Amino acid sequence: MNAPGFGLLLLQTLLVAAGMLLADAPVPWLVAFTTLFAGISAWRVRALLGDAEEDRDVELTRMQGDLRESSEALERERAELSVLMSSISEAILAVDESGKILFFNDRFRAFFGAVGLTERKTTLREVFRASEVADVFQQAQRELNPRHSEVDLSVAGESQPRTFDLAVTPLRSLQGAVYGCVGVFHDVTELKRAERMRIDFVANVSHELRSPLTAIKGYSDTLRSDFEAGRMEDIPGFVDVISRNADRLMALIGDLLDLSSIESGGEIHRQWVMSGELSQRVLRQLEPRRAQRNMNAHVEVEPGAERIYADPGRLEQVLVNLVDNAFKYTQEGGRVRVAWEKGPGGGVRLRVADNGPGIPEESRARIFERFYRVDKARSREVGGTGLGLSIVKHIVQRHGGSVELRSTPGQGTEFLCDFPGPEGT
Ligand SMILES: Nc1ncnc2c1ncn2[C@@H]1O[C@H](COP(=O)(O)OP(=O)(O)OP(=O)(O)O)[C@@H](O)[C@H]1O
Ligand SMILES: [Mg+2]
Repeated sequence: MNAPGFGLLLLQTLLVAAGMLLADAPVPWLVAFTTLFAGISAWRVRALLGDAEEDRDVELTRMQGDLRESSEALERERAELSVLMSSISEAILAVDESGKILFFNDRFRAFFGAVGLTERKTTLREVFRASEVADVFQQAQRELNPRHSEVDLSVAGESQPRTFDLAVTPLRSLQGAVYGCVGVFHDVTELKRAERMRIDFVANVSHELRSPLTAIKGYSDTLRSDFEAGRMEDIPGFVDVISRNADRLMALIGDLLDLSSIESGGEIHRQWVMSGELSQRVLRQLEPRRAQRNMNAHVEVEPGAERIYADPGRLEQVLVNLVDNAFKYTQEGGRVRVAWEKGPGGGVRLRVADNGPGIPEESRARIFERFYRVDKARSREVGGTGLGLSIVKHIVQRHGGSVELRSTPGQGTEFLCDFPGPEGT
């Protein structure tokens, strides 16, 4: 009760008492005091009750505040978690014990979302038709332990499957009960590819070194026994073979050293190079090859592409490799065109085109790999080891440019190299 309320009660009691006094009755006094006492007690009780109510209000307000703070903190954590999840490069998926999706991140949707994903509806088996993913999740859940596996999975928009290192861990509530599993899909396709390339590279180098070395060893042994036996007539021929194979070994080792120097970031010294002059020099250098195969070669320089900002030695290597290929793989009497044009972004584009057999579709993605040859036998016959285009690609990339291949089987091949201008490097 508040102060005015108490005043009213006092006034009321005094009025009763006064009335009774006027009535001159002793008993009514008693009544008056009892009334006053009762009034005061009632006021006290109500005051106490009022305090409790107020306390309760205060407590409620505090609880409301706490609750709002916790829910804001929860919301913040959720938002942070969501940002974190979407910035993670791994695909993440959580499922409940029946295999229904609980949660997935943006990366997961980008890779596997083609089926349409709905939390608490879509199941693991609907996303991954092959059972291997569901099996790993099931094992982790059954054994209550993390499981690892390497799986090849199709991803949205790509024809080739990707390899994932899948790690699945059971999800536990605070009380320790397992209510599902979370899987992290780490894309190891590139890593695997690099590993395979490294293994292939060592195998290829050994193989390529072995062939000429075997020839050198065989011919030098025969040469020695012929010499000891006094048979001299075949010796000049043997020396020729030995010398040719030694040249081949040196060329191969030169290419390998070149490649490793470009790949490991060897210096590139850019300067202005006259494209027409460079082309003529390269054609002169390759004249024996051109004449041998009776090829037609011509150079075109578009206005604005007379000069190119590049490392002269490296640029020459690019042109030699491309023109050499065109001479080697085009049928006798074929045509080769070297053209310099203005390229995108103020740079220069080099085109080397021929009217040869072209490069089959299935080989195009691998053509720039080290040691890759479309027709190994044919290539070896003409002295190729499959390093030329790999060198070309690395040189152009070290200049900040890019290489593109256009080819129509049966009609010809064209390589386009885009070199950026001085400001784009
Ligand atoms: N202009 C072309 N026409 C048809 N096929 C080509 C052409 N250029 C390259 N190729 C194919 O691509 C393969 C790889 O070429 P690359 O220049 O890398 O190696 P290579 O010529 O065999 O050997 P290297 O250049 O190391 O002497 C060749 O073996 C050949 O099969
Ligand atoms: Mg070549």
